Amino acid sequence: MAKEVAVSGVQPSGDLHIGNYLGAIKRFVELQNKYKTYFFIADLHALTENPEPEDLRNQTINLAAMYLACGLDPKKTTLFIQSHVSAHAELGWILNTITPLGELQRMTQFKDKSEKHGVLAGLLNYPTLMAADILLYNPDAVPVGEDQVQHIELTRTLARKFNSKYGDTFKEPKALLQKEASRVMGLDDPEKKMSKSAGENNYISLIDEPDVIRKKIKTAVTDSGSEIKYDLKNKAGVSNLLSIASAFSGKPIAKIEAEYSGKNYGQFKYDTAELLVQKLSGIQEKYKSLLKNKKTLMKILDEGAKAANKTAQKTMTLVREKIGLV
Ligand code: ADP
Ligand code: TRP
Repeated sequence: MAKEVAVSGVQPSGDLHIGNYLGAIKRFVELQNKYKTYFFIADLHALTENPEPEDLRNQTINLAAMYLACGLDPKKTTLFIQSHVSAHAELGWILNTITPLGELQRMTQFKDKSEKHGVLAGLLNYPTLMAADILLYNPDAVPVGEDQVQHIELTRTLARKFNSKYGDTFKEPKALLQKEASRVMGLDDPEKKMSKSAGENNYISLIDEPDVIRKKIKTAVTDSGSEIKYDLKNKAGVSNLLSIASAFSGKPIAKIEAEYSGKNYGQFKYDTAELLVQKLSGIQEKYKSLLKNKKTLMKILDEGAKAANKTAQKTMTLVREKIGLV
């Protein structure tokens, strides 16, 4: 039986943090063994925040290197840059023509981002481009964090709408959510999700130096109690550190709680910091070495784009015919 297909992307909008890693990339690496996978760098989406051209260029290459350093294997997965497959923008346009404005205006991300960046048409149309990213590859599953579920719902709505107007064309993909670590919280504010835009002490970047990691964990917000116990309501900070420690060590949270019964926050934080230093140092070494050899990196991305284009063009031929483009 043919493998199921999974598609996802991450925007190249700065260094990744451990929330991005646990919520997205680490899962991509696991999925590449089970699914036929397409993973891309969403550079067209990143444009909606109007980055400096030089920054966008660097961040795109850095993200490609990071995907590989974290364990994506070009033999197993199709890894590419979104803008190298022009069908994304083309299908995005076509989907715009069947998308009611109200559907886009009610998106949480649109409301949040337009407060920060101004009400740009690109931010409004972000979800139709995302629907195109997905539908081009007819996937079964789209691994994303909770914050993207609304966009996947819209993708399903648009697939259904297109199919009912033009005949069966697209599969309706499911969001693939994970239960654990799908929302890593901010270290200095464990009530909100960890985010690049929340400031240096909020997150641990995948390329933070060991001493920076140690300092950030040491100063992470906890509570005035002393018990190392998972309790989201009363101990949000400790619970967050427990999820992080569990995700990086592979141990269940209950096991970690048991190991630290009777011990203090200091010891738990110290060990968690050392765990992160150790796990991230492997990734960082590979990352640096990949960036030293940009030619090899570009070759991987070119081959990925070629394979992605092939699938995308097949879908576009069908779409063009169905909607009456000559
Ligand atoms: P940020 O919110 O830091 O700008 P992005 O929106 O670029 O991050 O997210 C990239 C990917 O990482 C998405 O799949 C998103 O769901 C996931 N992600 C982002 N922040 C977190 C978090 N705190 N916990 C878990 N996953 C996250
Ligand atoms: N919008 C996603 C995010 O902010 C990134 C993304 C773009 C994406 N296109 C996609 C994710 C297609 C899954 C599928 O994280």
